[in-house]
Amino acid sequence: MIPEEKVREVAERLSIVEVVSDYVQLRRAGGNFLGLCPFHNEKTPSFNVNPAREIFHCFGCGAGGNAFSFVMKIEGVSFPEAVKLLARKAGIEIEERQLTPSEKKSQDEYTQFLRINDLTTSYYRSVLLNGQEGEPARQYLVNRSVESNISEAYRLGFAPDRRDGLVKHLKNNGVDLDCALKLGIIRKSDAGWYDLFRNRLIFPIRDARGQVIAFAGRVLDAALPKYINSPESPLYHKSSVLFGLDMALPSIRTGSSVIIVEGYFDHLALYRAGVQNVVATCGTALTGTHAGLIKRHAERVYTLFDSDNAGKKATIRSMELFLEQRIPAYVISLPAGDDPDSFLAGNSSEAFAALRDKARPAFEYFVRSLLAETAPDSVDSKVRIIDDIVPRFRKIADSVERDLYEKEICRLLGITVHAFRKRMGGGSLSKPSITENQNKPALPGNNIQDTLLALLLNYPEARVEIVRAGLETFFMDDYLELAQLLLDTLDGSDSSQALSHLAETLDKPELKTLFSRIMVSDGYLADIEWRSVLDQCTRSQEKKQLSSIRDIAARLAVLDANSDEYEQLLKQADSLRTRKSKL
Ligand code: UTP
Ligand code: MN
Repeated sequence: MIPEEKVREVAERLSIVEVVSDYVQLRRAGGNFLGLCPFHNEKTPSFNVNPAREIFHCFGCGAGGNAFSFVMKIEGVSFPEAVKLLARKAGIEIEERQLTPSEKKSQDEYTQFLRINDLTTSYYRSVLLNGQEGEPARQYLVNRSVESNISEAYRLGFAPDRRDGLVKHLKNNGVDLDCALKLGIIRKSDAGWYDLFRNRLIFPIRDARGQVIAFAGRVLDAALPKYINSPESPLYHKSSVLFGLDMALPSIRTGSSVIIVEGYFDHLALYRAGVQNVVATCGTALTGTHAGLIKRHAERVYTLFDSDNAGKKATIRSMELFLEQRIPAYVISLPAGDDPDSFLAGNSSEAFAALRDKARPAFEYFVRSLLAETAPDSVDSKVRIIDDIVPRFRKIADSVERDLYEKEICRLLGITVHAFRKRMGGGSLSKPSITENQNKPALPGNNIQDTLLALLLNYPEARVEIVRAGLETFFMDDYLELAQLLLDTLDGSDSSQALSHLAETLDKPELKTLFSRIMVSDGYLADIEWRSVLDQCTRSQEKKQLSSIRDIAARLAVLDANSDEYEQLLKQADSLRTRKSKL
């Protein structure tokens, strides 16, 4: 553990401009420095660094934070590692704080786990490369055209057909077998210790930093099960691990996109073909955690699943996750009967690039496959199709996209937009709903809540006024949460340091983005008459809320009074009225 004072000392010694300049060419632009964002692909700079605030923010991709967050993100390291890296740059020596006995124990165990996995990886690897026992696996790799450089990149191995080869190897290296037991790679029975993997080709599974955290083993023939994977362990949680992420990160960063496949061999086939922004799930369907992890690294995702029915289902399920996370998702479709591995065995990487260029938006893919399943040739089938579409349609965040799909769906089904909207539950779809309006703030300075938050940050007198009226009167959702955090932070004495520190401690991505955005863009509020700005904000908020109430009233008029939606809208209208009366 690094003592807090040291962290602050490093923060004080280095300016964020100095730190960022090691990676990004910056030029001055008003109160900020401006450059091309290193976290997404762009041609015109939208990456801002504010030296006074010690905060960066990219208006293109929403990345933001302080110098430590910057280094964590760009180097792919943990917070303590980022601090150490910057300490070296600043010439500050870091002595780590003594760990408490329980911290020490868990750190020791963690180190042990990693050592065990390293020993295991090299054991399997040496069985594969040397000696008679590895011959069937070597032959298998030849048959699948896996050459030695690829085998090396994945650190492939072979678990021999022996009861306790790994057990012995670990024992000879002085490993505490009970510790290895927790990783699930060896087991204990009345007859003694034995290996989990036998007679299987081994894929080590690594985390984003390249540390081996688990293993997958494939049979060399048609025996079942085809694969077995390490069980969940303190190191390995399959629902949050993406196989190959460590190899893919550099390429994901350059292109801002990622391709998801389902199989280890699919990953290998693409990597071999030079397509390196690829990750695979580990014997499990894609989860929300996976989607969140992807969102942290890429702006756009392609799914590339088998062309069979299971693959189609997986594609549609994943579309819902990406809609929820608001990541643009596309589907690469393979010819019938192919998986990525077989496709690349028979086609060039140019042929694959052509398929990728033809990828369709996931939602379109979904609508088309629904229509392929059920022909929209009767009222009944149309209703069924629409009812399948509606819940997913609601998740499309972008209103332009929604309008386009609405038209497309209606065209394909041969119904009117009016009929579709009626089925959706009345009201206009092209206008984003009230809550979405709050979640998607407009450009800096154009949004009332942005301005209010900036006032709260810059003018202590305005802060007092806002607190007196109650934060809820002015802020909603993320804004409310952030306003409260800012108040707590600004209570302390050294506010500029505390604010930069806040950038590290925010862990909700939406709050992080909102915070860094306000911090680098509130320059327009310097030297203003805070009172009149606050009054303006209050007035426009009042107007906006009035029109929201009118919107709601219009929708209520066309809804069934017994429906859930009706009740929900009534509640919304009520709370709006209360807020308004407080203004
Ligand atoms: P596939 O059967 O498509 O495997 O299953 P693959 O990796 O493409 O292998 P090849 O090309 O047939 O050799 C896709 C993924 O599903 C998981 C594995 O993660 C596999 O990579 N799986 C499959 C299992 O976990 N267990 C199984 O028994 C089968
Ligand atoms: Mn396969």
